[in-house]
Amino acid sequence: MPAFCQARPAQDAGRSSGPERPDMNRAKFYVTTPIYYVNDQPHIGHAFTTILADVLAQYHRLLKVPTHFLTGTDEHGQKVQKAAQAAGITPQEQADRTVVRFQALWKKLHITNDDFIRTTEERHKKVVQKILQDLYDRGEIYRAEYDGWYCVPDERFFMEKDLADGKCPECGRPVEKLTEANYFFRMSKYQEWLVQYIEEHPAFIQPESRRNETLGFLRKPLTDLCISRPKSRMGWGIDLPFDPEYVTYVWFDALVNYVSAVGYLEDSALFAKWWPASFHLVGKDILTTHTVYWPTMLKAMDLPMPETVFAHGWWLSGEDKMSKSRGNVVRPMDMIERVGVDAFRYFLIAEMVMGQDASFTEDAFTRRYNADLANDLGNLLNRVLAMIGKYCGGAMPEPSAAALEEPDGKALWDKVQGAVRGMEAALEQMKLNEGIGQVIAAVREVNRFLERRQPWTLAKSEDPVPLRNCLYAASEALRVLGGLLYPVMPGKMAELRKALGMARPKPDIRRFGAWGVLKPGVPVRAPGALFPRLVDEKEKGAEQQTELIPTAPAAAPAAPAPSVPPPAAEKPPAAEGLIEYGDFSKVQLRTAKILQAFKIQGATKLLRLEVLMGEERRQIVAGIALHYEPEQLIGKTIVMVANLKPAVIRGVESQGMLLAATKGERLKLVTVDGDQASGAVVK
Ligand code: MSP
Repeated sequence: MPAFCQARPAQDAGRSSGPERPDMNRAKFYVTTPIYYVNDQPHIGHAFTTILADVLAQYHRLLKVPTHFLTGTDEHGQKVQKAAQAAGITPQEQADRTVVRFQALWKKLHITNDDFIRTTEERHKKVVQKILQDLYDRGEIYRAEYDGWYCVPDERFFMEKDLADGKCPECGRPVEKLTEANYFFRMSKYQEWLVQYIEEHPAFIQPESRRNETLGFLRKPLTDLCISRPKSRMGWGIDLPFDPEYVTYVWFDALVNYVSAVGYLEDSALFAKWWPASFHLVGKDILTTHTVYWPTMLKAMDLPMPETVFAHGWWLSGEDKMSKSRGNVVRPMDMIERVGVDAFRYFLIAEMVMGQDASFTEDAFTRRYNADLANDLGNLLNRVLAMIGKYCGGAMPEPSAAALEEPDGKALWDKVQGAVRGMEAALEQMKLNEGIGQVIAAVREVNRFLERRQPWTLAKSEDPVPLRNCLYAASEALRVLGGLLYPVMPGKMAELRKALGMARPKPDIRRFGAWGVLKPGVPVRAPGALFPRLVDEKEKGAEQQTELIPTAPAAAPAAPAPSVPPPAAEKPPAAEGLIEYGDFSKVQLRTAKILQAFKIQGATKLLRLEVLMGEERRQIVAGIALHYEPEQLIGKTIVMVANLKPAVIRGVESQGMLLAATKGERLKLVTVDGDQASGAVVK
């Protein structure tokens, strides 16, 4: 049985040798994001890590695992000082002005962090100073003349041998030579220990490629870490407790946030409750600081290691690195305004193959949103609720005791349970995109189940039981699948639950495995379009420039002509009507998937269909309303004439014609046998 459906056994969080992979079966969950520099406003990279941490935190809370989610801001150091100088304000003012932008964004994104730490807070500064004093007293920190190379933007010193072609090995920018007295942490003495620790604890650095990267880095001799900056050069930092001429190197200060925020040296009960962290989520660029500096610092402090440092890839703008100078930085606030919080959260989590870079484009966003959310999930909910409204008086139907024994019902429930297991495995392996993929595949399966069972036909039968079983099974599937997506889209999935007549907005994961949770007789409420389709300007044929515009399902156009010839136009094949192959080959036949179907007011025989042909969306008007209910059509892969001149009738365009087989009163759509992509050539 999937652990999602069981109560969790409490386990000892501390362990001597690490698990093969991150452990979802834990007694507590402490997750952190990097603390963000306050030199600039938040961007999509910050939003991504924070959303990812939030999703993990929310899953654990649903699993009733005590959870602590920490984020915050890194407010010292040269970057912040420079930004303040440029703005003509003090670094503290710079931090105060910027921190509110992060906090406002987290609120907007429905981030459920339990704490927010700022490194300029007293609670943090005093812990940093206590640690420094202790390490200094124990000889772990010493003073020495340092002759090195300094990368100003990265605020990092490097030995000559570490430079890459005389440039910064991290960012490739030019470095400056510096000689000064500084304080050093004896990081080098922990090298052997660290290599062994990483080798013995496969879950410590994830994914594996990053683990190998750190091990590669550790093949070269490790130097001691310069942990001070003379105030004469850079004064914005925490004073060294043993030398007032110096401030603390910003990374030594920042990394400590993970323990200072949970009471290290101040509140031993709190600290014992949360440390060691379960997950430090970081971007790939800050791998070394988290997998070399931080563990050696912890070792010197005699503290247990975090369970996992997980380094994700970067968001690119198309193929390019995002940067202010290129003007291609995606600003989360703008996106949320346009597409909504949950859709934005969903896209980032569904699209990123964790560990690799991901590409952000508005086209990719629109495609995924429309395919997964508007067409698959949103439509399914609307379809099911509309049919419960129409055929069951708007109340959740009562299934028979044998509902699950019906072959389709059992197969559907198995698929849903497969998605439950898939999501659990995805969480354990940090492959959330794959877990989401399984949920959406199961959503499609529910749509197919409706195609097969045809509730619109069952509704005509004397026996109400098959119809009730069918609609109840689809609703139960939606309950579980919506529940699995709750941590990713808490707002929308709470709406989905409400629509299904559930009183509590949050799901109970332990009931994902239980059939029959929805209460029969409870009124269901159609929420309207849960995910209104997005159209872009290209689709509207107006512009090349893409702009996302949410639309409610479009109003039906006024009575255009059918694009399928009326069934009456039936003639025996005429021998003299033979054509050359060349004539036939002029007709381009392509497969297309029906995304939406609408009745057309005042036109009893017509339906307006929105179809996807490859990448292209089209609208066609078809004379099939007497033969198909709109909800029956969604998801079908039909064959259409792709190169038919559009017909504009009373201002409404029909951009193609579908094929149907007709005989007498009977009309059946021409569909393809089995799975085939939309846009495939039919010949
Ligand atoms: N202050 C340090 C972290 C200290 S943690 C003890 C820092 N801050 S940052 O604001 O520059 O970056 C924070 C995070 O944003 C890093 O994990 C970085 O990888 C991430 N990202 C920055 N740009 C990004 C993308 N384009 N895509 C994804 N994440 C990216 O580093």
